[in-house]
Amino acid sequence: MTNPLSPGSLDGRVALVTGSSRGIGADTARYLAGAGASVVVNYRSKAPRAEKVVAEINAAGGRAIAVGADLTDAASVAAMFEQAVAEFGPIDILVLNASGGMETGMGEDYAMRLNRDAQVNVVEGALPHLAPDARIVLVTSHQAHFIRTTPTMPEYEPVALSKRAGEDALRAKLPELDAAGVEFVVVSGDMIEGTITATLLERANPGAIEARKQDAGRLYNVSEFAAEVARAAVDPVPVDHTRYVGDTSGFAHGT
Ligand SMILES: NC(=O)c1ccc[n+]([C@@H]2O[C@H](COP(=O)([O-])OP(=O)(O)OC[C@H]3O[C@@H](n4cnc5c(N)ncnc54)[C@H](OP(=O)(O)O)[C@@H]3O)[C@@H](O)[C@H]2O)c1
Repeated sequence: MTNPLSPGSLDGRVALVTGSSRGIGADTARYLAGAGASVVVNYRSKAPRAEKVVAEINAAGGRAIAVGADLTDAASVAAMFEQAVAEFGPIDILVLNASGGMETGMGEDYAMRLNRDAQVNVVEGALPHLAPDARIVLVTSHQAHFIRTTPTMPEYEPVALSKRAGEDALRAKLPELDAAGVEFVVVSGDMIEGTITATLLERANPGAIEARKQDAGRLYNVSEFAAEVARAAVDPVPVDHTRYVGDTSGFAHGT
């Protein structure tokens, strides 16, 4: 994987990536660290996987720590920020990547609790710990971002609705973020090949990935999408606070 960020461009900066023990979050953490940022790798339960990401970053000459916190648990979110700041200092880049809702046995409202309520709580908890001119990057999918105008697969619908609800709740905070000098950008991407979510959706809807690939022309893989998330952490923020990754022509734009 080629780092889209220049070496040293984030020297002295601090980043926290939620849900970075695997997948898109892990690659985003690697890119940010590769550019010089000190990175907090957050995870919910997979400590060994998070520690492996940290070990790779540190072995490559970067700085990272793993901090476990279930984002649906306010006390553990507060403790995560305390630990992050004690270790590295105020946070310059907060990537809201962690997501879920297709897990079994988490309760009916879990998607909303994680993808809406917890995202809002993480941002509110982060505010006192952010550096001046900090940036918050929210990671979402086209299937969630456009759910109000374009239907998605039934298995993903509760996740899509909850992620859009989280996005809307954070967009409602734009004036507050602006007043605090905090930038906010949403990165929306199509289905990503090779992820657990895509695999689960493919299992329930055989052929769905191939069909989407045909419609979209191509799909991004994990490291390619993570590169866009990393770029979103440093590039100028689009006027509508939204960075689209991949084809959006199959989605009805509008509110
Ligand atoms: N997959 C796709 O096709 C796709 C497409 C477009 C956008 N996206 C977006 O990209 C982001 C990452 O997706 P992904 O597929 O890489 O995710 P993933 O493989 O499912 O990874 C989820 C990460 O979030 C963590 N996590 C889950 N629940 C958590 C909680 N309650 N508290 C703290 N951490 C929690 C997991 O930690 P543990 O490992 O410890 O459980 C893991 O590190 C999401 O926002 C997703 O919507 C994905």
